[in-house]
Amino acid sequence: MRPEFAASWQRAAAGEELDREDIVNLLAAAPGEEEEALYRLADGVRARVAGDEVHLRGVIEFSNYCRRRCCYCGLRADNARLHRYRLMPEDIVAVARQGVELGYGTIVLQSGEDPWYTAPVLAGIVREIKKMGVAVTLCVGERPREEYALWREAGADRYLLKHETANEELYARLHPGMSWQERLQCLQWLRELGYQVGSGNIIGLPGQTLADLADDLLLLRQLDVEMAGLGPFIPHPATPLAGEPAGSLELTYRVVATARLVIPFAHLPATTAVGTLAPNGRQKALQRGANVIMPNLTPTRYRADYQIYPNKICINEGPEDCRYCLEGMVCALGRRLGRGPGHTLKPIPA
Ligand code: SAM
Ligand code: SF4
Ligand code: FES
Repeated sequence: MRPEFAASWQRAAAGEELDREDIVNLLAAAPGEEEEALYRLADGVRARVAGDEVHLRGVIEFSNYCRRRCCYCGLRADNARLHRYRLMPEDIVAVARQGVELGYGTIVLQSGEDPWYTAPVLAGIVREIKKMGVAVTLCVGERPREEYALWREAGADRYLLKHETANEELYARLHPGMSWQERLQCLQWLRELGYQVGSGNIIGLPGQTLADLADDLLLLRQLDVEMAGLGPFIPHPATPLAGEPAGSLELTYRVVATARLVIPFAHLPATTAVGTLAPNGRQKALQRGANVIMPNLTPTRYRADYQIYPNKICINEGPEDCRYCLEGMVCALGRRLGRGPGHTLKPIPA
């Protein structure tokens, strides 16, 4: 082991607060002994903090219309080749019911930024799903504070809004017409409104450095997030980043493992993007710090059109297929499915 890696690893193992330099040292773990030591440590912290339960959050991708133009995403407004769809409110509620029947304790409602779903319409959907006794997570992008407040009053428990990158300049380049400050403002509002907040970033964006990724983890610690989605960049052919290389899978594992050390109490999903880059990607992530999976609940006929990146897994499967596939995956790892809503892992203040 190189001395700088060993020193940062020791500090992490002793539970000390890691600084930017430590985080960069851990993210730079070399293949072999260093990576294995990092993964062992992260898996141990995961076991201590989150136990062996893997929570499943059923995701309904209810609309692929989007008013934004994020340079990496296949749903961006400029992609005229994409067939667009919207699920009607009663259909969303019916799909959620199917998820509850499959045993999911959380329903995640995700879409492009689609103003067709006004705040009262989404609030009505949240209210109907809350009657089923499950947690509801919203992931529908940036909206005014009053709208977040209305959904919170309707019973929404959590909100997922990735900051995407902590590098303001890179953020500006990849998000035409958007502002990093506004993104952070939204995250602040969500916190004030009492949501369990999920954020996160993309790994392997063009021009991104290890120091940028360290800043991502420091920002997540500062935001005190309950959940962090950390997934690799996958280039989409109908976007300005079509010709760029995908994010590295190994780097993604190192980010997930380091995140478990920097924000130990956050739920960390083994992302669909990791599963897309490698058939056993999600299993590996679960053994390197992750404790959550977000199975697809979207009706099969819409799945191929929610193409944020190409070759997304589970396009031809249905909700039941994913449910039983994941139960098998979790059991094969010697873990078990989480019960109930799987709320925050943070210790309750005395
Ligand atoms: N529109 C909402 C938003 O952006 O917050 C929610 C849906 S959006 C499709 C969910 C996430 O997909 C984004 O936060 C982004 O990190 C991720 N994403 C989009 N395109 C991607 C790509 N090509 N590679 C990896 N992740 C991507
Ligand atoms: Fe729209 Fe979200 Fe894709 Fe950006 S990442 S284009 S906001 S769906
Ligand atoms: Fe969808 Fe395995 S999670 S088939």
